[in-house]
Amino acid sequence: MKQVAPAVPHHIAIVMDGNGRWATRRFLPRVAGHKQGVESLRRCVKACAARDVRVLTVFAFSSENWNRPVEEVSGLMDLMVGALGREVPKLSQDGVRLHFIGERGGLSDKMIAGLVQAETATAHNNRLVLNVCFNYGGRWDIARAAAQLAARGEPLTEANLDAAMALAHVPDPDLFIRTGGEQRLSNFLLWQSAYAELYFSDKLWPEFDEAALDDAIAAFQRRERRYGQTSEQLGAAGSRDQQAA
Ligand code: IPE
Ligand code: IPE
Ligand code: MG
Repeated sequence: MKQVAPAVPHHIAIVMDGNGRWATRRFLPRVAGHKQGVESLRRCVKACAARDVRVLTVFAFSSENWNRPVEEVSGLMDLMVGALGREVPKLSQDGVRLHFIGERGGLSDKMIAGLVQAETATAHNNRLVLNVCFNYGGRWDIARAAAQLAARGEPLTEANLDAAMALAHVPDPDLFIRTGGEQRLSNFLLWQSAYAELYFSDKLWPEFDEAALDDAIAAFQRRERRYGQTSEQLGAAGSRDQQAA
C-alpha cells in the first residue's frame, strides 16, 4: 500500500513567550530578550516557509502587555518600529505577505504608518502569510466582530462572526505552539483555536530553533484530529479514500 507522507500543518500559531526570562538569566535587561526574540522570529519564518507551512500567526504584544513597566512597553514599541524598517524588505524577498492584527488605536502614528506600509509592500507575496498580532486579544477580536455585525444589523450567527474576525483571510490554525513553559492561552486566538492541536515547549522563545519547530511538527503529525467523530469513523473514511485511489 502506498504510504502517504503526514501533512505539515497549513497554519501554525505561536505564543512567543520567554524573552524576559531569557534575558534575566543572562543578567541582561528584558528588552535584550525581546531583541533576541525578533531574531528567533526571523529564523522561524524562514524555517516555516522551507517546510511549506503556508500561514504563521504570532503573538507579539497582547492587549494586557500595556500593564508592564513603561520602559519595557516603550522598548517593545521601539523594537517594533525598528523591525518594520529593517525586516520588511528581507521578508518580502522571501515571499512573505504581512498582516498586522490588533487594535491600532493607541499605537503611535509612526507605528501605524509602518504597519500599513509593510502590508502594502508585501501584498503581492504568496509563499507564506505572516500575521503579527500586536495589541491583540482574543476577547477584543470576538467583541469587535460582534460589534461590527450589530452595527450592520446582521444576525450574530457563527458564520457571520467567523467572517468578521481578524483572521478571516486564513483558515483556522492547525497547530498552536506556546514556548516558555506556561500552559495557557493568555487570550490568544480564542475563537480560531477551537480545534487547533496545542503544543507546549519548555524552550524560551529566543531558543526555539529549527529542531524545536521540527519536534512540534512531528508531535502534530502523531495526533489524531477527530473533530468530534470517533477514531473508527476516521479509519473508515481513510480506507474509503484508499479504495477510491
Ligand atoms: C514574550 O516574552 C514577549 C512579550 C510578551 C512581548 P515575555 O516578555 O513574556 O517573557 P517572560 O515570560 O517574562 O520570560
Ligand atoms: C503572552 O505572553 C503574550 C505574548 C507572547 C505577546 P505573556 O507573557 O504576556 O502571558 P502571561 O502574562 O504569562 O499569561
Ligand atoms: Mg511571558
